[in-house]
Amino acid sequence: MSEQATLRDAADAQEFTIGAALDPNALRVDPSYWKTVAENFNAVTPENALKMTRLRPSRHTYDFKNADAIVNFGVENDMYVRGHTLVWHNQKPEWFQAWDYTDEQLRTFLRDHIHTVAGRYRAKIDAWDVVNEAVDDDGSMRRTVWSDGLGEDYIADAFRWADEVTDADLFYNDYGADEINEKSDAIYDLVEGLLEDDVPIDGVGLQLHALGDWPDPESIAENIQRFQDLGLEVHITEMDVAFHDGEEPENPLEEQAEYYRDVVETCLDVGCDNLVTWGVHDGSSWIRGFKDFGQRYTGDPLLFDGRYGEKPAYDAVKEGLEEY
Ligand code: XIL
Repeated sequence: MSEQATLRDAADAQEFTIGAALDPNALRVDPSYWKTVAENFNAVTPENALKMTRLRPSRHTYDFKNADAIVNFGVENDMYVRGHTLVWHNQKPEWFQAWDYTDEQLRTFLRDHIHTVAGRYRAKIDAWDVVNEAVDDDGSMRRTVWSDGLGEDYIADAFRWADEVTDADLFYNDYGADEINEKSDAIYDLVEGLLEDDVPIDGVGLQLHALGDWPDPESIAENIQRFQDLGLEVHITEMDVAFHDGEEPENPLEEQAEYYRDVVETCLDVGCDNLVTWGVHDGSSWIRGFKDFGQRYTGDPLLFDGRYGEKPAYDAVKEGLEEY
């Protein structure tokens, strides 16, 4: 394929969906931010604005202002809009304590949340991360307020409740499950069980936060294919690429670019046509504040630098799409 003007053009020509997680304030106050997004991406997802903590300022109120801003921006710009996320153990509102609810009340609470939020965006959101990170790092089911109160069926219930109010594709999303490993094996068993029970699940999201130890593209391909063989779609939902702090090679930006390109080519090889980067530019990346058991990472994991400059990683993704 010939050279295209922007990343978005290259993605469109390849019928590939390339997205970024967005911050509503940046969208409002920084024209460079929205122009960069509109020109270079054909998909968006709110980085935080659809999480329960942001949507539910108090027990009986919702605030959709920020989520609406991002979703409407996406719709206006003919983008694929991903909703993130309906059920998660993190980023719950401070006023919310599971022990204020009986199990039955908790069930009603979660069902109402899903009905209200997924229902509101019925005509606008194309895919939902219905359940996020329900499997623990060792492959066991994560113990959360939801599993404690509702039992492990909460996962199936969440998908069914979402299906009642939206036609969006419904995804299970998780980190650390990009390659074939204990955790992705457990997720495989989980979604296989859901399908056997006729639970309305359409896909699996692999977050692909490549932090320090980058998942092996061949293993990613094999992993994607086994989910596809179940009849599920697979999307890369939160990609960023960083080194362990203090362990950068001599040419970090080139190595990072090469990895981005490898992943895009892997996706194209196996027919996974949807990849979201977790932010627009390095200056706003969550990795800058992220510490994993004391471990920090280099703070420039995205396709644009803090001044909206196109990085080698940008060129690599674009060329990967153009040259495929
Ligand atoms: C992160 C956001 O990027 C941060 O701004 C926020 O403070 C914490 O959450 N897995 C997920 C995302 O599914 O929702 C997380 O996003 C990153 C890890």
